Amino acid sequence: MVDLSIKLAGIDLKSPLVLASGTAGYGVELASICGYSGLGAVTLKSLTIMPRPGNRSPRVWETTGGMLNSIGLENAGVDAFLSDFLPQLNELGVPLIVSIAGETAGEYALLARRISGAPGSIVAIEVNVSCPNVEKGGLMFGAEPQASGAVTSAVVENTGLPVFTKLSASVFDIVRIAEAVAAAGASGLSLINTLPGMAINPVTGYPRLGTVSGGLSGPAIKPVAVKAVWDCYRATGLPVIGGGGVYNALDVVEFMRAGATAVSIGTATFQNPCRFEQIACELPDIMNRTGALRPADLVGSVKV
Ligand SMILES: Cc1cc2nc3c(=O)[nH]c(=O)nc-3n(C[C@H](O)[C@H](O)[C@H](O)COP(=O)(O)O)c2cc1C
Repeated sequence: MVDLSIKLAGIDLKSPLVLASGTAGYGVELASICGYSGLGAVTLKSLTIMPRPGNRSPRVWETTGGMLNSIGLENAGVDAFLSDFLPQLNELGVPLIVSIAGETAGEYALLARRISGAPGSIVAIEVNVSCPNVEKGGLMFGAEPQASGAVTSAVVENTGLPVFTKLSASVFDIVRIAEAVAAAGASGLSLINTLPGMAINPVTGYPRLGTVSGGLSGPAIKPVAVKAVWDCYRATGLPVIGGGGVYNALDVVEFMRAGATAVSIGTATFQNPCRFEQIACELPDIMNRTGALRPADLVGSVKV
């Protein structure tokens, strides 16, 4: 009998499946469509200190094997999250991973303090470092080991919650960044964020997205994500929330074999918002075929 429960950096979750940040807002609406059965945790849309309206439309475009988006971190801001959304989410009883995004290391520190003081179901903080660092001329924090480490330690020093830093694979050497984040005290890694992409209407000549380019997600990025998980897991030994293009239980097991302890599902929910329920039902059968009794048996088990 397969047991789907996992321990993720000390957190007990009933399933390794995690909803990816930004793909279901704060997750409140989703609860009324599918409930949360099958999910171990929900990662919320990245929160900033002030509310953000997001980018101009069009903000999503379907591509072969994936989707481009340029939402632009539209969110209600931390005050509205804590007063309006968190109480509703606490009633649902699902473990929450709160994603935070800032423009300076100080903003990340402040967000970490605010989130950590909040009551209820929050079990971890995810640090979205795919954001421009205004003190470094707008270069993305996650592009550099030093900046990624600095933001991670700013968060770690301001929370007692486990901290997962979410990396972009669109960098020169993701392993060096993962190592800097590990040295800064992260409890784990979340891999990967979207990859940069662009699509053009060949007839009119206009870009498909209002911001010209955006982030690519879905099955098209899965091999890049699997390699990032394998490389970073091997180099740091940190627990990994792995994902990028997960559509079924076979994909989940593939990420676990690469080194993921938990597996995130994002773009697949645009096709079917309840996809994670289906995946949770299929997972025990796929695990039986591998001989694994629990997800932990599969973590890093690729035969190389
Ligand atoms: C519409 C959309 C919004 C997203 N918003 C965020 C976000 O706010 N913060 C973040 O860290 N990642 C965000 N992501 C990235 C996802 O969390 C995930 O890392 C990425 O889409 C790859 O997984 P997938 O192929 O399963 O979607 C977003 C992705 C999509 C498609």
